[in-house]
Amino acid sequence: MAFPFQIKSLSDYQQAYKHSVESPEKFWAGIAAHFKWKKKWDKTLEWNFDQPDVKWFVNGKLNITENCLDRHLRMSCDQPAIIWEPNDPEEHHRVLTYNELFFKVNQFANVLKNNGVKKGDRVCIYMGMVPELPVAMLACARVGAIHSVIFGGFSAQSIADRLFDAQAEFIITCDGAYRGAKDIPLKNTIDDALVGCRFVKRVIVLTRTHTPVSMIKGRDVWWEDEIKKVETQGNPPYAAEEMDAEDPLFILYTSGSTGKPKGVVHSSAGYMVYSTYTFVNVFQYEPGDVHFCTADIGWVTGHTYIVYSILCAGGTSLMFEGVPTWPDAGRFWDIVEKHKVNILYTAPTAIRSLMAYGTSPIVGKDLSSLKVLGTVGEPINEEAWRWYHEHIGKGNCPIVDTWWQTETGATMISNMAGVTPAKAGYATLPLPGIQPVLVDEKGVEIEGNDVSGNLCIRFPWPSIIRTTYGDHERCKLNYFTTYPGYYFTGDGCYRDENGFYRITGRVDDVLNVSGHRIGTAEVENAINMHTGVLESAVVGFPHDLKGQGIYAFVILEKMHENQDQTRLDLLQTVTRIIGPIARPDKVQFVTGLPKTRSGKIMRRILRKIAEGDLSNLGDISTLLEPMVVEDIKNGKV
Ligand code: PRX
Repeated sequence: MAFPFQIKSLSDYQQAYKHSVESPEKFWAGIAAHFKWKKKWDKTLEWNFDQPDVKWFVNGKLNITENCLDRHLRMSCDQPAIIWEPNDPEEHHRVLTYNELFFKVNQFANVLKNNGVKKGDRVCIYMGMVPELPVAMLACARVGAIHSVIFGGFSAQSIADRLFDAQAEFIITCDGAYRGAKDIPLKNTIDDALVGCRFVKRVIVLTRTHTPVSMIKGRDVWWEDEIKKVETQGNPPYAAEEMDAEDPLFILYTSGSTGKPKGVVHSSAGYMVYSTYTFVNVFQYEPGDVHFCTADIGWVTGHTYIVYSILCAGGTSLMFEGVPTWPDAGRFWDIVEKHKVNILYTAPTAIRSLMAYGTSPIVGKDLSSLKVLGTVGEPINEEAWRWYHEHIGKGNCPIVDTWWQTETGATMISNMAGVTPAKAGYATLPLPGIQPVLVDEKGVEIEGNDVSGNLCIRFPWPSIIRTTYGDHERCKLNYFTTYPGYYFTGDGCYRDENGFYRITGRVDDVLNVSGHRIGTAEVENAINMHTGVLESAVVGFPHDLKGQGIYAFVILEKMHENQDQTRLDLLQTVTRIIGPIARPDKVQFVTGLPKTRSGKIMRRILRKIAEGDLSNLGDISTLLEPMVVEDIKNGKV
């Protein structure tokens, strides 16, 4: 059975797009009618971008897990919901059918209840890529708790900041996680984070790596023991909590241009409706297809396209615990062959790193099951696009280049596989319901084609960010005040002569390193915490594999003392404060930074130097001390 709202041709798309712009409420009400509601909504949309205040499906009641699970039990109970491929190819993979996933989610929802978790509570999830991670997320959603998944690569300090911000009293974690050749000691990191977070009442620990861990009496319990308690209670089903359409489903922290990551809040209904709509249409998912999204669930891509949208659509989601290059660079292709993957969705950085191994890891691998390829997270360079198309898709698979953000919840601009045209390096056309505009520095709309500007969205879509947790003003300031009347994405964008969109990268102080979003201010704050550092400035520079690398200019109290050691110490400090993903690739010690007379750092100049573009630094006459620029140029690393 195809999906009732699946777009099947270019003219379908054009019609749907027109309808979605002319009567957005009618359009989305029509899509939302295909979901399971406990009570239908009274009004489709109320909105105001000035506050901002956006409500979709006002007074509708639902539980997203009934859409992800219960709804499929009659027709597809034995169909795989999740296929789990472990890190080690020698270990057996696991398959959870819809029936089994339903059972496990109900069981764990009871565990949460037994441990005091209630509707509205915040639950932090810090786990590796094991099937119990989606089980934990869905169980939270079933009881109405708000989950906040934290990527396994973040440090104890980053976790503590997030726990504190969300006032999360419950944590679900693992003893450790396998990633390639490494065992990551997750519970130990949680213990370090909890030293300063006394408000945490309960830590539930799943056994995965058998790494020794300390279990604190009265606070820490084993997942397996808690499940046994539910078994002795007779495994009662858990009646899904009735949630308002606008009740938060999850918080996901992401970096912005200020120092502190912000907790992006998504709603229950709007997120469900829009993410599922995009999943079915962008990937042209057909019932029975195996969809392999290689992202980590710690990022929004994993939330949306490994868990929620695909389960709402009754699809089969393949999740992988490991990394693309272990035990060798053929791991993805082995997985595609073994599980007959139909749709592969990955990041340009992964494609570039696999390209570097040449084509020998692909030789002899049967990739004929593939129908659709996708990319996300950063602009894809044409060379990587062509390699993906030719060597992985064998020239037969459309590539969808999906542009979106943590804040948008799901794909906003993308071609639809085989339905709308693709163009290398271009996200191409907006999905129905999305009204992109380009604005100039003053916020004036730039009309016409073959133009560049800052990318904004004019009208709300169902999965737009609702707030930043605990600080609504911040949400307003970050996204809705730069260009009043619009949601501002932070991205620069080019619209070509045919109206196709090409994302050119961030125009704010946010870096995109291997598809991970990192604020320069966050890295600077971490560097500045190191003893002996007076000041620092961090910028991005083009990096062959990572897309962008991190370049730090640092002023030390004592410039000439043991710089090599200090450099290593600085890297260690950043790893401790944020995590290994934020370690600078280059550290240059400088005696001064280029500043304007008002004390503002001229990052434009530092960016040029980091890029190696030393000849054309633009006007430096407004600098307080133009001479520092020469010094920095001479000392470039
Ligand atoms: O700069 C854009 C880039 O990633 C940013 C969003 O990062 P994050 O919230 O971590 O979400 C990533 C996964 C959805 C955007 O502001 N970006 C994302 N997708 C693309 C992209 N840049 C170019 N092309 C894309 N397809």
